[in-house]
Amino acid sequence: MSAAAPAAAPAAAPDQQQPAFRGEFGFIGGAVAKAVSTTFIILVVAAFVARHVLDDKYTIAKTHSPEIVQARMLARFEAGSVIPRFEKYHVSRPDAIAMLQGVLRPAPLEAYTVVVGETGCGKTSAVLDAIRPNRTGIVYHIVRDDLFVDISKRLAESLDFEFNQFTFTEGYLKDRGVELHEVTSAAEPFKSWVLLSLSLRDVAQQFKTKHGHPATLVIDAVDMIAKQGPALLHVIQNFAKSAADEQLLNVVLVTSDGSTLPELEESSAMTRARVVEVGDLTDEQAVDFLLHRGVNEDSAKRAVAEIAGGRFVLLNRVTKQLGRGHQVNQIFLEFHIGTRGALRRLFGDLAQISPPASSTFCRLCRGAQHVDDVEEALGRDLTKKLLATNVNILAYHPNKTYTLHSRHVQRSVSTLLNCTRP
Ligand SMILES: Nc1ncnc2c1ncn2[C@@H]1O[C@H](COP(=O)(O)OP(=O)(O)O)[C@@H](O)[C@H]1O
Ligand SMILES: *[C@@H]1O[C@H](CO)[C@@H](O)[C@H](O)[C@H]1NC(C)=O
Ligand SMILES: *[C@@H]1O[C@H](CO)[C@@H](O)[C@H](O)[C@H]1NC(C)=O
Ligand SMILES: *[C@@H]1O[C@H](CO)[C@@H](O)[C@H](O)[C@H]1NC(C)=O
Ligand SMILES: [Mg+2]
Repeated sequence: MSAAAPAAAPAAAPDQQQPAFRGEFGFIGGAVAKAVSTTFIILVVAAFVARHVLDDKYTIAKTHSPEIVQARMLARFEAGSVIPRFEKYHVSRPDAIAMLQGVLRPAPLEAYTVVVGETGCGKTSAVLDAIRPNRTGIVYHIVRDDLFVDISKRLAESLDFEFNQFTFTEGYLKDRGVELHEVTSAAEPFKSWVLLSLSLRDVAQQFKTKHGHPATLVIDAVDMIAKQGPALLHVIQNFAKSAADEQLLNVVLVTSDGSTLPELEESSAMTRARVVEVGDLTDEQAVDFLLHRGVNEDSAKRAVAEIAGGRFVLLNRVTKQLGRGHQVNQIFLEFHIGTRGALRRLFGDLAQISPPASSTFCRLCRGAQHVDDVEEALGRDLTKKLLATNVNILAYHPNKTYTLHSRHVQRSVSTLLNCTRP
């Protein structure tokens, strides 16, 4: 079992498997023991609770057995995750949606999928749009700004999986090729991941047997996991890979920003991944979007051409600032100052940038360049720094190219390095 955790960890706290019990114990232990704090009282309470648990064991077994837990999880897959409606004006992106629908229902299942695209290009919305017409067989989970230790537990909630003592017995684990001590010695969120993934495999098999095709699990914003170090992400990738190898479950990972992709690619499980990209809108779609948001035609065209291109997050920001009475020039200048500052921090005096770095930047202003050419001209370290989310000069694409990160960066770099001069 390769999913065991890297670090040594405290033993399992038994109260984690029994929330109701813990609640009751907390109440009695808290209220009574505080008032009359004698060892005697605490012993009586402990005996009461132990007794209570024994009495309940048989009732609990009926509602919390692995079979019941898994039946609920299976039902969640069969119903699919509920996808909320989109509230604001919606740009239709038939090509991106069709591509993603192919990813969500692959035939046959040959790989797990990593969906990439810059922050704010509309990945989450496009994935939800692709699921909405038919959510049967698809569970969608988005990683929020959760505490790292809670990541697996949040995923379990989306899957309607319940951790309890019955999925934590030696026999249950042994049947699934895992030793109890491997689990008890793991720290969170790895421990919960192991327990969850074992049931997930069982349920995926049940789904496939019943419906003749694998179910789909989408985990969005996995860059939030990568931010905390690559270990858990690699464990999840390994799971996704073996699920694909066994044609058991279609796992789709969605990630923002170029700095995560190289991390994902460090994993040998990446060999089994299909990487697809959600890109920006076309300039025409972007202008149309701004017109629908009440921007006048002249500003809309200039804002798209000079600042935002088809990147939703920039279009939204520009709309807001135009609404406050700012001019396109002013808005561009703010972005320009940011880009100039970032470049100066990395290069010092920009007039000192010479070929091949300067000529590479100028070629990037005109379009995508192969990864190898850029890394050779700029060096790997510098390339990595230019990709970082807080710098956002370069963007990485799964077709092994780099582009400048956005339209305004392209224009700024072109002016700062005098690219239009012969
Ligand atoms: N098709 C669309 N039509 C209108 N607005 C959209 C569309 N797709 C995304 N947006 C908006 O763009 C912003 C970024 O979208 P999101 O899906 O969160 O991007 P990502 O997941 O790539 O970061 C959000 O405010 C979202 O509401
Ligand atoms: C939804 O997808 C499932 C699984 O692929 C399929 O069996 C079902 O017919 C689809 N439902 C609709 C309404 O298209
Ligand atoms: C670009 O041209 C300006 C004015 O001609 C000059 O001051 C500046 O140093 C040049 N920048 C670079 C990077 O060559
Ligand atoms: C690679 O992808 C980028 C971004 O989607 C695109 O601009 C570029 O044209 C593509 N290049 C090749 C060679 O396919
Ligand atoms: Mg998103």
